[in-house]
Amino acid sequence: MSAPVSFDFSGKTVYVVGGTSGINYGIAQGFARAGARVAVASRSQDKVDAAVAGLKELGSDAFGVSLDVRDYEAVEKGFADVAGFFGSSIDVLISGAAGNFPARLLDMSPNAIRSVVEIDLLGTFHVMRAGHAHLTKPGASVINISAPQAFLPMSYQSHVCAAKAGVDMVTRTLSMEWGSDGIRVNSLVPGPIENTEGMDRLAPTPEIRAAVTKSVPLGRDGTVVDMANAAMMVSSEAGSYISGAILPVDGGWAQGGVGQMMGKMSRMLDKMRGA
Ligand code: COA
Ligand code: NAP
Repeated sequence: MSAPVSFDFSGKTVYVVGGTSGINYGIAQGFARAGARVAVASRSQDKVDAAVAGLKELGSDAFGVSLDVRDYEAVEKGFADVAGFFGSSIDVLISGAAGNFPARLLDMSPNAIRSVVEIDLLGTFHVMRAGHAHLTKPGASVINISAPQAFLPMSYQSHVCAAKAGVDMVTRTLSMEWGSDGIRVNSLVPGPIENTEGMDRLAPTPEIRAAVTKSVPLGRDGTVVDMANAAMMVSSEAGSYISGAILPVDGGWAQGGVGQMMGKMSRMLDKMRGA
């Protein structure tokens, strides 16, 4: 159903920012299985260490950096550390660090709004700006991890909706600015991906989770393996003419189910909030 597909990224260098858990770690594991050298970064040193150990078990010459994407100098240093460790520039850059919690605007402090916008949107800008100098390999591929909230509004998600819409516009504009450098830039838009922090936060009860799954045309949640397969397809030779795409990886959810579900989820969250 969502078995790893065989890709060959041996000799390639992949850097996954926000790559120590969930979807992004699943993507890092996919590239590691496909023979790539893989670096991951996130805030928690413990998560970085565990992710690097896991990638090494898959046979990857893995490396990890602890950083916060809100800190531009730290992001820049992270790229330098990765280049120093591998002695190579980057073939595939994935930018997926994100923060989310369901909250209505009036229940968010200015700092709560800033946190999510800074991690998701400003963090993407930071990774793109600092990363460009390291994307000198022919066929370099950049993937930003977006969300359905980028194109559909949802109550309790104004911070994420605005930030992820911004992420997709960064993807689209950079596909234009960087095309002449031979760099492809795309967004992947995950649907509901099982066993992830994002799903746990937005669909916190079995009732909501079952309704979400039912609203996906293919009738199942996605897996991190589905996300890894899509990231590798886009970054492989098979994707060499794909740039500027905002690609749903969601079993058809974006075609209607997600809109209905967002309304339902908002009402369920209202009920939990006692509104
Ligand atoms: N409702 C309203 N405000 C909330 C909130 C919630 N459920 N959760 C956190 N906040 C507020 C905090 O109160 C704080 O505001 P304040 O300083 O005015 O009190 C602000 O958000 C920042 O929280 P803090 O925990 O200090 O920030 P952080 O930088 O350590 O963490 C978050 C960032 C809040 C996004 C945190 O949830 C996180 O680290 N998320 C990463 C994992 C994740 O979200 N995964 C899913 C990806 S889809
Ligand atoms: P996750 O496991 O919480 O992944 C988030 C990653 O980003 C973690 O590695 C986290 O590690 C890191 N991170 C968070 N804040 C950071 C910061 N300020 N600086 C650096 N790293 C930071 O969540 P997930 O659910 O798998 O989500 C992954 C991506 O998919 C996100 O971009 C999310 O918006 C998107 N998405 C998810 C779903 C879903 O179904 N789960 C659906 C649509 C879109 P640290 O805590 O160590 O920093």
